[in-house]
Amino acid sequence: MDDVKVVFTTNPGIEDIVVEEVSAKLGATILEQRSGKGRVLASVPLANIDLVDSLRSIHRARILLYQDTICKKEECLGMIKEAIRGTDIPRYVTPFTTFAVRAERVGEHDYSSLDIARVAGDAVIEVVEMTHGKRPRVDLDYPSVIVVVDVINDELYVSIELGGDLSWHRRGYRIYDHPAALKPTLAYAMLRISGARDGDTILDPMCGGGTVAIEAALLFESSRIICLDKNPRHIMGARLNARAALVEPRIEFIVGDATRLSRYIDRADIIVSNPPYGIRMGSPREVRALYKRFLEEAVKVIDKSITIITTEHVVAKQVLSKHDWEIVEDRIVAHGNLHPHIIVAKR
Ligand SMILES: C[S@@+](CC[C@H](N)C(=O)[O-])C[C@H]1O[C@@H](n2cnc3c(N)ncnc32)[C@H](O)[C@@H]1O
Repeated sequence: MDDVKVVFTTNPGIEDIVVEEVSAKLGATILEQRSGKGRVLASVPLANIDLVDSLRSIHRARILLYQDTICKKEECLGMIKEAIRGTDIPRYVTPFTTFAVRAERVGEHDYSSLDIARVAGDAVIEVVEMTHGKRPRVDLDYPSVIVVVDVINDELYVSIELGGDLSWHRRGYRIYDHPAALKPTLAYAMLRISGARDGDTILDPMCGGGTVAIEAALLFESSRIICLDKNPRHIMGARLNARAALVEPRIEFIVGDATRLSRYIDRADIIVSNPPYGIRMGSPREVRALYKRFLEEAVKVIDKSITIITTEHVVAKQVLSKHDWEIVEDRIVAHGNLHPHIIVAKR
C-alpha cells in the first residue's frame, strides 16, 4: 500500500499531541517532530488519508511533494519551476479540477511571495498540460485543489493542501465568539494532557464560550461535563456553540462563581480550564487573588487533576503546591502572541 508524506501544522507546544493522534488514528509513522515550531512530518498510508478530517489537534495537513534548499537570489526562482516539474502534481491537478497556488515566504529573499506564486502557477499549468494534454483552470477564490509553495528561509516546500483554505482549528460550531476564546486545538490538547478518561466528570469552571466542554463532549462518550461561568451571556453563548456542535444535551451549564465552586459542585474528577490571564483585568493583585480563591475551592471538589492554561503560572503552582498537589506537567505553548503555560497538577 502506498504511503504519502504529510506535513501537519499545529499550535507550537503541542506537537507531541499531534504525534500521538496521527499515529493512533491514521496509523502514521512519524518522520520528524519540530518541537516549538508547530510542525510534524509523518508518513501516512494513502488508504487512511480521508481520516485526516477526524483529527482534532491539527491546524493544517498537507501532502508533501517536494522539499529541498533554495537560494535567495531572483534567478533562484527557476528552482521552483524545476521542483514543480519533478513532482506528481498532475495526479492532483488535472484539466477537470481548478487550482490555486498559495505561497508563503519567511526570511530575506530578492523575490516576493507573489513572484513565487506566479512562477509556480505557470509551472503547474505546464506540467498538467504536458501530462493530460489540456490546461487546468486557475480559480483563486474557490479552487478545488490548493498547491502550497513555502519558502522558509533557505528551504523550499511544495505540497497539496488537504483541508482547503480554512485551518482545521476553526471548528464550525463557533456561533458565539467569546472575546478571549481558546483555540479548540489547545482545548483538545489540554484534555489529552490532563489524563482525563472517558467516564470522568470533567469541569471547566470558567468556561466562557464552552470550547473545553464542547471538545470534551466530542472526545468522550460517557463523561459528565460541566461548563460554569459567572457571566450569563457567555453561558448562553456556550449553549449556542454546544448546540451547533450537536452536544448541548451532553453538557450541564451553570451560571456561577468559580471562587465559590463548592456551592455548585459536590465532586468532579478533572478540571480543564482557561481562566482569565489578567491582561484586561485591573491589577496583577486582583488576578492573583482570583487564582488563589478559585484554586483553593478547586482542590476541595476535584479528585484527580487540575489542568489550566495561564500566564499566571507562578501563582497557580504556588497555591497548588501549598495544598500538596504535585505539578506533573508544565509546558509553554503559543496562544496568539502570548506564551502561556499549561500546567497539570495531581492530587
Ligand atoms: C479566558 S475566558 C475563557 C474562554 C473559554 N475557554 C472559551 O474558549 O471561550 C475566561 C472566562 O472566565 C470567566 N470568569 C472570570 N472570573 C470568573 C469567576 N470568578 N467565576 C466564573 N467565571 C469567571 C469569564 O467570564 C470568562 O468567560
